[in-house]
Amino acid sequence: MNRREFLLSAAALALAPRTTLAAGARIEILPDEPAGTISPLIYGHFTEHLGGCIYDGIWVGERSRIANVGGIRKSVIDHLKRIQAPVIRWPGGCFADSYNWRDGVGPVDKRPTRTNFWAETDILRKSSGGPQKYEPNRFGTNEFARFCKLAGAEPYFAGNLRSLNAFDFYEWIDYCNSPRGKTSMADLRAQGGDAEPFDVKYWGVGNESWGCGGDFTGDEYAVEFRRFITWVPTFGIDLKYIASGPNGADYAWTHSFFQKMMEHGRGGLNRIFGTALHYYCGTTGNGVANEFDTAGWYELLNRANRMEELVTRHWQVMGGYDPEHRVKLVVDEWGAWHHTADPPIAPNYLWAYYPTLRDALVSSITLDTFNRNAEKVAMANAAQMINNIHTSFLAAEDKFTVTPVYHVFDMYAAHQGNTAVRTVFNAPKVSDPAAKGIFGLAGSCSLRDKRLVLTVTNPDVQNAQETEIAIAGGARIQNARATVLTASDIHARNTFAEPEAVRPAAAAAVQVGSPFIYRFAPASVTRLELDLA
Ligand code: AHR
Repeated sequence: MNRREFLLSAAALALAPRTTLAAGARIEILPDEPAGTISPLIYGHFTEHLGGCIYDGIWVGERSRIANVGGIRKSVIDHLKRIQAPVIRWPGGCFADSYNWRDGVGPVDKRPTRTNFWAETDILRKSSGGPQKYEPNRFGTNEFARFCKLAGAEPYFAGNLRSLNAFDFYEWIDYCNSPRGKTSMADLRAQGGDAEPFDVKYWGVGNESWGCGGDFTGDEYAVEFRRFITWVPTFGIDLKYIASGPNGADYAWTHSFFQKMMEHGRGGLNRIFGTALHYYCGTTGNGVANEFDTAGWYELLNRANRMEELVTRHWQVMGGYDPEHRVKLVVDEWGAWHHTADPPIAPNYLWAYYPTLRDALVSSITLDTFNRNAEKVAMANAAQMINNIHTSFLAAEDKFTVTPVYHVFDMYAAHQGNTAVRTVFNAPKVSDPAAKGIFGLAGSCSLRDKRLVLTVTNPDVQNAQETEIAIAGGARIQNARATVLTASDIHARNTFAEPEAVRPAAAAAVQVGSPFIYRFAPASVTRLELDLA
């Protein structure tokens, strides 16, 4: 029996009702204690003109021998549909604040070539050219809007605040949203092949305005932000503005931005959908994604787990100015960030490497944090979708694979739009001193109709967690299914040669009672779907 078969049978056995419960851990689900609706938008993605993300990742061109829909890689579209990707952010990142959207519209052969924002980074400095270094503007607004439509996702545009004016922002909205045939911008859009408006709702105003987006302080940025969003034509769309927010634990930024916004009365906050928190939990050791020891495994997971504190503390600061919490958190860049693979996956691919099982657990810890904070986090975007940083896909020419990160998005899609329910996890911390006191089990639970979705991370590399799972009120479980993502080696990853090295295993449905015992495999992410009688 191989490990995969073992896991399947173990999961099935583990789900069986027991008369005597003897477990080291306990999870109590409280279906009658709702904690907000889980916005599907927290399962969003981020794409930037950075390395292999756009060119060769998403865009292969209409004449490519690689399967494509109007130039867009078909395998990406198909997989995004499968995980119900709700929203995609574009065109950056830092690139956004150097991007003139006009360069990417109009006749393709007339579009200018520009130096990409990232051209000065090590890999690209040494490179003689290519679309990653010299931006050809072949993929612009119309192409991105079509990509989103094909994938079934909402577009989220990041506007340029550092190097363009409020008028350019205004005109981009006109270009995207004005009714067919009514403005010159609508005509220009139609010349690009899209007569009907794109109806773009989500608009970011600058990116990381504390750094690459202009080096502002929070109060300086608030003044710019207000100018950008004041009197923009809506074309009947309920525009949702997202302000550039803090870098990790920079609470001073949140204070100063909100304080300045309040100078014009509390009404100023009505126009903000969210403030964008960025948090990368980084890497460990030498920064090579699959070179880490047990201490490095725990170190990264402990750092991913800081998201809870960041969300909670920024929320507290925001509440001091906005007690009704009209403004939500939008975590529009998050993930682990290792160094570029050596040798690189493809020339010019910055920060592209094969994510491992460890990165899958970074994803599950983060997404569970968002689920638990459903009333605070309105949107989130993993950075980035393809060929970059915390990636769900890797592609180079005709080679393609999904990563362990993708599998977590696939498993967690079952939470989208559900009601988060309070769930109490009681598990002894991992005893290995290298674990530095990391939690024993963590996760989240949501309810829709009569189905509970419970997702759980067991970070312990050695030990399974025998756990009693109880549903408050004694509801009876009719049916249960388990899906487990793990591997015999914590460094396991999917490569072009071995695209299925890490993939979820499903256990057969069994009858269970409440409480019941479940054994969470070591170093695993588990989804239990529990159908209530
Ligand atoms: O995702 C890569 C970069 O990280 C983004 O361009 C920037 O916003 C952040 O610093």
